[in-house]
Amino acid sequence: MKPPSPTAPKILAIDTSCDDTSVAVTQGKTVLANVIASQTQLHAPYGGVFPTVAKQAHKENIEQAIKVALQRAGVSWTEIGALGVTQGPGLAPALEVGIKQAKKLATKHSLPLIAINHIEGHALSVLAQPKPRTKKPRTKQARTKQAWPKKIPGQNFPALAIVVSGGHTQFIKVTQLGKYQILGSSIDDAAGEALDKVGRMLSLGYPAGPIMEQFAKKGDPKKFKIPLPMTDRRDFNMSFSGLKTWARNKIEDLETRNQLDKQAIYDFTASFQRGVFGHICYKLNKLLQENEIKEVWLGGGVAANIKLRRMIRETLKAYNLKLFTPYTKRLCMDNAAMIGIVAGEKFERGEVAIQVAGIKKNPSHLDRKPRWEIGENP
Ligand code: KG4
Ligand code: ZN
Repeated sequence: MKPPSPTAPKILAIDTSCDDTSVAVTQGKTVLANVIASQTQLHAPYGGVFPTVAKQAHKENIEQAIKVALQRAGVSWTEIGALGVTQGPGLAPALEVGIKQAKKLATKHSLPLIAINHIEGHALSVLAQPKPRTKKPRTKQARTKQAWPKKIPGQNFPALAIVVSGGHTQFIKVTQLGKYQILGSSIDDAAGEALDKVGRMLSLGYPAGPIMEQFAKKGDPKKFKIPLPMTDRRDFNMSFSGLKTWARNKIEDLETRNQLDKQAIYDFTASFQRGVFGHICYKLNKLLQENEIKEVWLGGGVAANIKLRRMIRETLKAYNLKLFTPYTKRLCMDNAAMIGIVAGEKFERGEVAIQVAGIKKNPSHLDRKPRWEIGENP
């Protein structure tokens, strides 16, 4: 773990792209604070994110989240060198709250404001590093661990970033930081969305992905045979809506025959999860056969799933590739630290969207981009 570069500016970053109000303070790749105010409880009754409810909750939480992030980082406004904010993709009413707040702060504190793509955040979340500990590790084991630092991602390009979230499932080739090419995407539902929708059919609660992971541990993943989609296509795109339809039919069938008992649900979730992740790994394998990739990174909400990590690692073995995952699961879910990391990278490259201090542009020009592919100009 390297200490943060003293020359890198401290960045206050905001993400309000969906249903979490998140504010972080980062410096270079180091996360000094990452506050996430979750709205899960508010949206659970709807079984999905309700945009106007999300907007209202962001408005209520944002000021406090900023205050707590600065406190946790032990940083005052005078030490902040730049602001980062998620411009898109995401829910327009939700994005609006973060952007409005960021513009207000940029003007008030005369700070440069950097607009960030949320998917770039997920893709680069593996690069984040924790704050170095000031205390000496107590045990011998911990001291040895510290003396042998883990391999750091971002040393070998091209890398492949696999983003698996509730809104996106993508294979992104990273030629260098800031240069991206989407090699494959889901043509319909995202993997997380499919897990959530099938979880809803089974009344697992919202969001169903993490609950399904727990249920699946008690089930037999080979109990139900799930079709493998898109095997007749040479490209690396994916599709999860067919799996969802298969699941609906199967659940109805089990219900009709009065066979959807507790164990059947465990087996079903284990099998469905294996089907979704198996499809991702099938396409990943194809992609690696045809592309020279030197590092593989995993990000997004579903990246927290241990089964997915294991299956990807299994696929990578044949290519002698290591899988990098974020150092904490808090970096998988929607969070502002990943936005701060990308903002830091952009700052270093001089890609500051709005230079308020230098009055290059008025911050009012910055607007939401609910649909915005990584690598595309904003
Ligand atoms: O990245 P994220 O927090 O928000 C989006 O940008 O979409 O991802 C949310 C998705 C949800 O579909 C949720 O069910 C899924 O990530 N998820 C999981 C796990 N934790 C979150 N899916 C499977 N296993 C998990 N442990
Ligand atoms: Zn996300």
